[in-house]
Amino acid sequence: MVIGLLAITAIPTVTGVAMGVSEQRKANERKNDERRMAKFNIDVAPPPYEEPDDEVQGLRVVLRNSKVYLDDPIPSKRKVPAHTAAAFYIEYPEPDHLKDLKRGYGLATTISDNPPMLGWIYADKDTHEVKYGNRTMSCEHVVGPWDWDEEETTVTLEENCQFVAVQEDDGAWALYFDRDGDELEGVLEEQGKLDNDFQPLRLKRNLIEQQVQKMKNDNS
Ligand SMILES: *[C@@H]1O[C@H](CO)[C@@H](O)[C@H](O)[C@H]1NC(C)=O
Repeated sequence: MVIGLLAITAIPTVTGVAMGVSEQRKANERKNDERRMAKFNIDVAPPPYEEPDDEVQGLRVVLRNSKVYLDDPIPSKRKVPAHTAAAFYIEYPEPDHLKDLKRGYGLATTISDNPPMLGWIYADKDTHEVKYGNRTMSCEHVVGPWDWDEEETTVTLEENCQFVAVQEDDGAWALYFDRDGDELEGVLEEQGKLDNDFQPLRLKRNLIEQQVQKMKNDNS
């Protein structure tokens, strides 16, 4: 009788604990996903121990014509109209023929507000230009893993935080990924752009929710 009672009461306790753990894990995963999916603008910062460069300091990642550029955070101050990237991390949906790659987090971004549309930010595997597009356009290129570093502030791709701004002939600053760690010497030579002005930099997450909060605080 005593044993029977113990046995009966023991069952719900054990499953209760087990459920508690898995519920907790699910809650943690949800929280992680929420943090990963928090939208941010991407702003320029100088590499560590370097002075900020006047020309690219304060610029923000913007999108136009399938390419990623750096321009003024205020849209009306841009010489060429562009969409401000609002990005977040989410598992890159590998197409069937690349399923085995499992490249982890992609960097999704709004590519237009009206209509609201999303795309993927990626580095061109040949030119190392940073571009954006749909899955078909991006999947053959460097689509991830994107991540964060330094207390979730610095954006990394393939565990590398080195990006470079390269000035194009019209003065626009195009964004490149320094995949080979040579400050783009190899790829720029191939593209005949060795004489273009360039600026190594880091990309920083600037959470949109925090910007909104700050604006509210400043106005009150
Ligand atoms: C992906 O983008 C390309 C180029 O913009 C376009 O031609 C193609 O139709 C798009 N594919 C899908 C599935 O939307």
